[in-house]
Amino acid sequence: MKRTRQVSHSKHHRKLHMDMSEFSFRRADRKDAKAVFELTKSSINGLAAASYSPAQIRNWMGDRTPEFYEKLIENGRMTVCLRGGAVVAFVDSEPGEVTRLFVLPEVAGFGLGRRLLEIGVAEARAGHTGAIRLEATLNAEGFYKKFGFRTVGRGHFSHGLGGDLIEIIHMEL
Ligand SMILES: CC(C)(COP(=O)(O)OP(=O)(O)OC[C@H]1O[C@@H](n2cnc3c(N)ncnc32)[C@H](O)[C@@H]1OP(=O)(O)O)[C@@H](O)C(=O)NCCC(=O)NCCS
Repeated sequence: MKRTRQVSHSKHHRKLHMDMSEFSFRRADRKDAKAVFELTKSSINGLAAASYSPAQIRNWMGDRTPEFYEKLIENGRMTVCLRGGAVVAFVDSEPGEVTRLFVLPEVAGFGLGRRLLEIGVAEARAGHTGAIRLEATLNAEGFYKKFGFRTVGRGHFSHGLGGDLIEIIHMEL
């Protein structure tokens, strides 16, 4: 009983005292590739695990490497969020599509997803007219709905190692 009270008190305390000025946003640099790769894994392990099987979570990154993210960064549309010099969240887009949005579990729920989605949608709109698409993970459908995206279909992705396909939801704004 005592222990439960202590844990919930410390969570409450952290949330009340999270200062948004701790976070900064900038265009991703090639040097961020390893951090973005690791962050994606941690975000999936911590925040998407309840919606997928352990095998799907294990195989999520498939044959991806930090070099894959370096190439994406070179496209010039990725934004990273930093706290204390470390990358804690990022968003990436292409014309017409928000392609990736991941937040570390320890900073989830503080408004970074909202902020990064606004940035990602603005990037996706540059040089594009018409709907903005994305592929949501099952756990994130409610988050995107909150910001006006609607569900248009269901699908799968696989990152090249075989194993179970990973269900995703096609959404549009
Ligand atoms: C989904 C994700 C990006 C949300 O980021 P976040 O920083 O925790 O979200 P925010 O704190 O900005 O939340 C903004 C609002 O959305 C709500 N929200 C957050 N996650 C939600 C979810 N999974 N379902 C429904 N609503 C959600 C919040 O309660 C908040 O609502 P409020 O403004 O009424 O308080 C983050 O949980 C994540 O990285 N998940 C794992 C990776 C993932 O699934 N990414 C999506 C891949 S397509």
